[in-house]
Amino acid sequence: MRPRIPEKAREKDDLLKTLAGYREGDAKFRDGRTWSLVYFAGDELSDTLKQAHNLFFSENALNPMAFKSLKRMEHEVVAMSASMLHAPDSACGTMTTGGTESILMAVKAYRDRAKKARPELVAPETAHVAFEKAAHYFGVKLRKAPIGRDFRADVGEMRRLINRNTIGLVGSAPQYPQGVIDPIEELAALAQQKKLPLHVDACIGGFVLPWIERLGHDVPRWDFRVPGVTTISADLHKYGYAAKGASVLVHRDMSTLRHQFFVSTDWSGGIYASPTMPGTRSGGAIAAAWAALHAMGEEGYLRHTELALRATKALRSGIDGVSGVEVLGSPDATLLSYAATDADVGLYAVGDRLEDRGWSVDRQQHPASLHCTVTSNHLDIIDDYVRDLAQAVAHVRRHPEEKSRGNAAMYGMMAKLPMRGMVKQGVLKVMEQMYGPDGASDLSGVGKGEGDGPLLQAMSKYGDKALVALDALDAWKQRLSRKRRR
Ligand SMILES: Cc1ncc(COP(=O)(O)O)c(C=O)c1O
Repeated sequence: MRPRIPEKAREKDDLLKTLAGYREGDAKFRDGRTWSLVYFAGDELSDTLKQAHNLFFSENALNPMAFKSLKRMEHEVVAMSASMLHAPDSACGTMTTGGTESILMAVKAYRDRAKKARPELVAPETAHVAFEKAAHYFGVKLRKAPIGRDFRADVGEMRRLINRNTIGLVGSAPQYPQGVIDPIEELAALAQQKKLPLHVDACIGGFVLPWIERLGHDVPRWDFRVPGVTTISADLHKYGYAAKGASVLVHRDMSTLRHQFFVSTDWSGGIYASPTMPGTRSGGAIAAAWAALHAMGEEGYLRHTELALRATKALRSGIDGVSGVEVLGSPDATLLSYAATDADVGLYAVGDRLEDRGWSVDRQQHPASLHCTVTSNHLDIIDDYVRDLAQAVAHVRRHPEEKSRGNAAMYGMMAKLPMRGMVKQGVLKVMEQMYGPDGASDLSGVGKGEGDGPLLQAMSKYGDKALVALDALDAWKQRLSRKRRR
């Protein structure tokens, strides 16, 4: 039955008990069981952030004149981030609700600045999907450049895609799928030569790379010290360890930021000006981000970065010790992914097995790989994870049939099916189930419902046979692309 607002008000304790019950099946981030999604730096910091959030629980940054406190905190958060990113004194920017919104705003600013009839953005194919979303929302064509063998942006390929419609270039520090930093200095030189702005997506790296460098490790230059870097996105709610809903987009100067703004002068509700996507903006998220920067301080960030680096190193050598899988590329920070090296190790089946053991699994494609964003909170569980991974790989070798069952079959098929339009239809169908009147919260009904697309039905019916065919096709495609790269 469809839930309704209860007729009578419920007691606080009673409703909080229900909410606590709702959490029971959630991923166990406190125990280090998630490899992205949550950045947990301990209860002490969490308590501080909650209190700061609560202090500004009701305030709204929509009108900075009404809540000068929020305007002040936002300015200070942007300024502290800009200093960390070695930005010049001219730097300015805004807070946003997260990485995606920062990227949306950068693309919107570049588009409006360029005033092209058919705007195009050039990005390596590993750039975060938020650029595709921005392109989709803002009527920009995204030109995706093939990457090099090391998974980094190939500057020559990006150069080839630049034309008179190009509004800007993108690089990542690091990119999410394999955790490698694109050659930002070369990209910036290209951008300057072509008189284009360059956005560096440091959503995940922005609050960890500066500390890795400070700890004495070699980090290729990627921030505002590189001439030609125009804007940088960096997420406070990732390695900034702030509460969810906080990122910054820092501009080298006002010449691009001014194109980010939206102003309407004729609405009967009054003159309206807004720096970012939303109308109402949460005061709590701004205050918690401000509190995170102050509560951590440089010493806190350095300490947590050192622990995260130790955990990453241990994870890398643990994975190196499991025969049948390997870390992809040479990750530059605290995230990595690994893929299968043997045909008889179905990596998505390994993922399913890890999930059965209570790990939250982040499955990637092209190539099929599992992703780990490592934080200080993972240091104590690396041995458990590596042990479970080794067991999962051994199990999957003994049970090759598992790769054509359950989630493994579905992800395998989704990743390999050449008809991407069909895959998209299939995914849209899943979304319809999740956000439809029944609000499904898992994938167990996929392919079984009436009106499910042909992909979902084929998947649930012929999973194993279809996968064998797709595997063969995939192996052939990989051989071909290896030949081409040689
Ligand atoms: C490199 C990079 N860019 C952008 C994003 C998007 O951030 P959000 O999920 O906060 O919108 C992510 C998220 O992981 C990321 O890793």
